Amino acid sequence: MAVGIFDSGLGGLTVLDAVTRAMPDVGFVYYGDNVNTPYGVRDPDDIYELTTKGCARLFETGCNLVILACNTASAAALRRMQESWVPSDKRVLGVFVPLIEALTERQWGDNSPPREVKVKHVALFATPATVRSRAFQRELAFRAIGVDVEAQSCGGVVDAIEEGDMILAEALVRSHVDALLRKMPDPDAAVLGCTHYPLVEEVFREALGPQVDVYSQPALVAASLADYLKRRPEMVGEGGESLFLTTGDPARVSNQATRFLRRKIGFVPA
Ligand code: DGL
Repeated sequence: MAVGIFDSGLGGLTVLDAVTRAMPDVGFVYYGDNVNTPYGVRDPDDIYELTTKGCARLFETGCNLVILACNTASAAALRRMQESWVPSDKRVLGVFVPLIEALTERQWGDNSPPREVKVKHVALFATPATVRSRAFQRELAFRAIGVDVEAQSCGGVVDAIEEGDMILAEALVRSHVDALLRKMPDPDAAVLGCTHYPLVEEVFREALGPQVDVYSQPALVAASLADYLKRRPEMVGEGGESLFLTTGDPARVSNQATRFLRRKIGFVPA
């Protein structure tokens, strides 16, 4: 029926917004696991259980393809899901690969051997679980050589955004950027490795300074998904109705989503 977009909470809306703009004729079903957010402080088994539950619900609505618009789920659960859980007629894709393909100047889906690339010093901002998984470094090593990655685990930022406390979120971002710059004073690129962070992207950019190239996922994921659907049109399924599901309080989540996307969003119980 449509393409599923999964996140632990509100962050995946940044991806939803970009894919909707890029593919206005495709229906998207969003699943926010707001009652269990944040995932970033959970262990991999827990993240796997919650993510498979959400994806199963999205398959039930008729989606053939689910995008894990959550780096934490992509880092901690995706590989295990693809190896042993995803039904053969369905697909689950993550958000790391499009970002790394852009960072390493590749065409979408180019799997040629790793090579030297322009960026040498990369600052990675992500949740504690994503940083711990080292999934970003692993995916990067498949595509590039000689890139130094310094990761900053950004505790508290997702919680603050989910609570709607943007002042706290912004203060935490500044202190995480300071901490990163003490470890790596001159990054040439920074990766916002959590789909909640585009909601405070300007603060990251300001704190990092204009000399740092900031890679943010929504537009990259949208371009990569458009390319994928051109090659695999059957994965769109039929119909185009959008739907917003949450495990949390629909009224509260709808209010926050409406504020973030600046258009009326109505969530219903998952
Ligand atoms: N948006 C999720 C991500 O991209 C947030 C994870 C969390 O719930 O901590 O990692």
